[in-house]
Amino acid sequence: MGRSLDRTGHEHMMRRLAWVQPGRANHRLVQRQMHGIMPERTKMNNDLMYQGSDLMLDRLPLASIAREYGTPVYVYSASSIRRQAARLMQSLGTIGSLRYAVKANANPVLLALVFSMGIGADTVSRGEIQDALGAGCPADRIVFSGVGKTHEELSFALDRGIFINAESEEELAAIAHLRTGAHVGVRINPGVDAHTHQYITTGTEQDKFGIPIDAAPDAFRLALDAGLVPDTISCHIGSQITSLEPYRKALARLLELRDSLMGDGIPVSGLDMGGGFGINYEEGADFAVEDLQVLLHRDVPRGMKLWFEPGRYIVGHAGTLVTRVLYRKRYARTFVVVDAGMNDLIRPALYQAHHAILPVTRRDAEPTPCDIVGPVCESADCFAQDIPMPLPEQGDLLAIRDTGAYGWSMSSTYNGRPLLSEVLIEDGKPALIRERGL
Ligand SMILES: Cc1ncc(COP(=O)(O)O)c(C=O)c1O
Repeated sequence: MGRSLDRTGHEHMMRRLAWVQPGRANHRLVQRQMHGIMPERTKMNNDLMYQGSDLMLDRLPLASIAREYGTPVYVYSASSIRRQAARLMQSLGTIGSLRYAVKANANPVLLALVFSMGIGADTVSRGEIQDALGAGCPADRIVFSGVGKTHEELSFALDRGIFINAESEEELAAIAHLRTGAHVGVRINPGVDAHTHQYITTGTEQDKFGIPIDAAPDAFRLALDAGLVPDTISCHIGSQITSLEPYRKALARLLELRDSLMGDGIPVSGLDMGGGFGINYEEGADFAVEDLQVLLHRDVPRGMKLWFEPGRYIVGHAGTLVTRVLYRKRYARTFVVVDAGMNDLIRPALYQAHHAILPVTRRDAEPTPCDIVGPVCESADCFAQDIPMPLPEQGDLLAIRDTGAYGWSMSSTYNGRPLLSEVLIEDGKPALIRERGL
């Protein structure tokens, strides 16, 4: 199947995109590691560390977890989730609150952990609303976003008093038809480029999301005339955003809109700034939430209800995908075929995303550039190209790092492969939080 697809121009382009970008990054990495410029510690996050030659997550050897639960398996650190969420909450202080984007990782145990910290939920379907409610999130802390909500989903949310962010004039009309008097948000497309991958940029006029900012005053008026209470301006400009500038621009545009709506007699009391805080997948730092705090304190009028909808920032670092080496093939390239595939973690194939890959047990040998590939019948099923590591043996384990967000939640059963089990490490103990299954 992969072969025939490979012949199409699109597939060819996707392969080049998928390989060129990570390849380049990895080439730099090979050089830096081979020349000893890059200390090993900088590649670790706080939870993932080598002890001797064994890779530990929260001080537990990943090899023993793989032995107990099998591979491939997603393993999460509860303390990482708590730390990331606490950092955001501390930065926002009393000026704003959080709605966790359930799409990033909807495991019920992880959801319950996040909600137990007082964080609400950002949802995009009836299924996600049910997941959030089921994991203990109160209905009044749930927001329902998304460009294509069905009428059935809208009435499901309205019946439970869940706040809806409408994304078009026609959706506003549908909500008004179902429930006059409902308080709603209107998602604005502020025309801000978040400078991230094109598939996760959502705030420019080329993107399908929200109502263009120039059309927003009419949309608010329409909502009001239809009997709704449009009291919140919302936006989400993209994901994996690493600089403050796009948020600064979006906030300025939203506040300008708010002033003009207030001038027209439409009171706006809420501001939903979406998610998007980026994390460091290799080198450098996570998005500097502390800088955002300064901006918010300076610009957001007192008394406004402000919230963000982070997903990746909270759970991204927490997850590690542990996979086993099935076979090696050494010809023009060195392929290391592992038991996890693009159906288990699609980010590298879909977004050309880079995830660091580490041996679970270090071998004392010269590093050689390896391509880490999965078993799925697509050439895009490649997790990394040219990464330097001592050639793993058959049966060795590899850890694909920072896979807590958009890992399991984007997985599929493509090629008839079962969905993976998930394990959570909490208080030094591993627990199965999802069984492997089809
Ligand atoms: C409306 C909305 N809010 C929040 C998020 C979460 O984004 P992130 O995981 O980058 O924080 C998304 C992601 O697509 C989204 O569409």
